[in-house]
Amino acid sequence: MHIDILTLLPEAFTYLNYSILQRAQAAGLVDIRLHHLREYATGKHRVTDEPPFGGGGGMVLKPEPIFTAVESILDDGVSNTSIAHPIILMTPQGRPFTQTIAQELAGYERLLLICGRYEGVDERVRQHLMTDEISIGDYVLTGGELAAMVVVDAVVRLLPGALGAEGAAETDSHATGLLEGPHYTKPANFRGWDVPAVLRSGHAGQIARWRRQEALRRTWERRPDMLVTAVLSEEDKWFLGQLAADGNR
Ligand code: ADE
Repeated sequence: MHIDILTLLPEAFTYLNYSILQRAQAAGLVDIRLHHLREYATGKHRVTDEPPFGGGGGMVLKPEPIFTAVESILDDGVSNTSIAHPIILMTPQGRPFTQTIAQELAGYERLLLICGRYEGVDERVRQHLMTDEISIGDYVLTGGELAAMVVVDAVVRLLPGALGAEGAAETDSHATGLLEGPHYTKPANFRGWDVPAVLRSGHAGQIARWRRQEALRRTWERRPDMLVTAVLSEEDKWFLGQLAADGNR
């Protein structure tokens, strides 16, 4: 996979040089390239932003450097330009980012992420250049850089081979439509608190059943909205019925 990021703050992306993201790049699973928006601006001062027409506070990113940058990045010969690669603006007005969107994006050969700054970008960028807009939550950041890193992290860990233990991403919270249940590691007894006996029983069937039930319990307690869309077996429904009955007692 190939990911281009257009930003006024490429220095902010050092997070990508660590851990799983670093290993995925070293292994050739993903090629992440940072592009400085200022380099695509013209004139002596390479201006990238201007005050808004009609007045009002803040600055707005100009259309020309963004169009020039996107056109030049996509024409770099790295991939087939006749394929429509997603061009995604990071903005609090975008569609809310979810695990499902991360999975969708992980299926593309190439992504281009644009980080907004200041008051936003000229509307013509949104209308005539972007194919998608993504928000990482209902709050306003000072720029799209943190949001782009969130999206890159969530997408890259889904690429086959990115996580050490193959298949680990499949059991993540949200990937299954449920939150994950509790995890324990050594020691078996810590300050008098025991690890549940079933996890030490060595009985794979019972452990799998317990994990499923704890995932259901946690989702029921914390995110009951997720149960509406989760894929549930008859046994899952029976267990949730028990939880509800216990709760009403
Ligand atoms: N830029 C500023 N705030 C943002 C948000 N919540 N999501 C994505 N990009 C942003």
